[in-house]
Amino acid sequence: MVMIKAAAVISLLLAIAVLPQSSSAWSSASLVASKKTFSTRLMSSAAATVNGKSKTHEHCQEPGDRDILVRAARGEQTERTPVWLMRQAGRYMAAFREYSDLLPFRERSETPDYAVELSLQCHRAYGMDGIIMFSDILTPLPCLGIEFDVVKGTGPVISTVIRTEEDVANLPRLSFDEELPFIKEILGRLSKEADEANTSLIGFIGAPFTLAAYTIEGKSSKHCLTTKKMLMADQTGESKAASQFIDKIATMIGEYACYQIEAGAEMIQVFESWAHQLSPALFEAYAKPAAVKAIEIIKAKHPTVPVIYFANGGSSYLELQRDMPADMIAVDWAVDMATARAALGPDVPISGNLDPTILFGTKEQIETAVRECIDKAGGPGNAHLLNLGHGVMQGTPEEAIKWLVDECKRYK
Ligand code: CP3
Repeated sequence: MVMIKAAAVISLLLAIAVLPQSSSAWSSASLVASKKTFSTRLMSSAAATVNGKSKTHEHCQEPGDRDILVRAARGEQTERTPVWLMRQAGRYMAAFREYSDLLPFRERSETPDYAVELSLQCHRAYGMDGIIMFSDILTPLPCLGIEFDVVKGTGPVISTVIRTEEDVANLPRLSFDEELPFIKEILGRLSKEADEANTSLIGFIGAPFTLAAYTIEGKSSKHCLTTKKMLMADQTGESKAASQFIDKIATMIGEYACYQIEAGAEMIQVFESWAHQLSPALFEAYAKPAAVKAIEIIKAKHPTVPVIYFANGGSSYLELQRDMPADMIAVDWAVDMATARAALGPDVPISGNLDPTILFGTKEQIETAVRECIDKAGGPGNAHLLNLGHGVMQGTPEEAIKWLVDECKRYK
């Protein structure tokens, strides 16, 4: 009992020491609460140390696990199919909610102590084949002078208005070091953690069209009408604001991916989350060439780092993605994996594509879905990376994530 109390006091002192020193935005109540959260974390990680040996990240301990994700993304045959999950760090985890209930999104994702911890929680618990930086596709927008917030209950809100060619021309181009000083530190620390955990570190960017559309709409949008009107004006030549804006983002975001790689990311996933807003023709005219430009910037500088392109809603025009310079195409859950493989052809490595709602099913249903998906991709280890066809949903039972990951790793 005395020992437990002593441990609690030491943890609290350590917690105070690791808390960011300038936290003016916090109320004293939330500060006390967050110190408590940190204290809890430190206590539980201390409890996970047995005989001086860390018991965290005990999942990825096969010799090839260190880079199995990267090898599969490059299109190599692997000893089994690797697995990670889009939005694997999120509010479905009770440990994550301890932070998200207390601290605003930007505080969490832009303070290295928090961002590192939030990136690691899911990996410690479930042992996916990669650690993804806890951040957001919107994080680099301030480098173009675009301001955003993530509002609880509403989602992303972007205040900068882009409508005209002049609006686009007036956007500044600010440095990553100055606008995003936390990124290098987060990825640098995660890189060491990934090494210790014998796994890979995943970086990511939003695709140019998706980031442009998010900015133009200012928030999530059902029909994306303002953006689509701008695309139509672009096509008639009335205003080139849309294509100029998308192009400006393509350059910035390609360079941002390089910045992440130089800070330690070993693979990059490109999120075209709003592909479902686009007809095949609009995809081909706007989203695709801009994503290709961003990927080419990455490939020119870092040819061996694999890039995965994920177009949410893009499964109805997979044939248009076959010739993109990405190493792997990730597919959403609206297409059967066997159909997607056939549409892309045998030479295109593939990622996906379980329906995220399967995680609300039984253990048996989840395990069957995992094996079926792997079989339809050509069997275990066949240039396939198992993932969901979109992000993990809020409310997903935590044990379901374990069943999915374990079954994938077992199936050889
Ligand atoms: O995958 C991971 O675990 C890494 C972290 C990650 C987040 N967002 C954390 C986050 C990644 C890769 C993203 C990408 C992202 N962000 C996408 C692409 C993926 C997709 O879903 O298509 C998109 C469209 C966004 C924009 C965005 N940011 C949305 C729609 C939301 C959710 C808003 C809400 O309130 O539900 C965010 C905020 C956000 N980013 C959350 C998380 C875990 C949830 C809010 C929070 O933690 O406070």
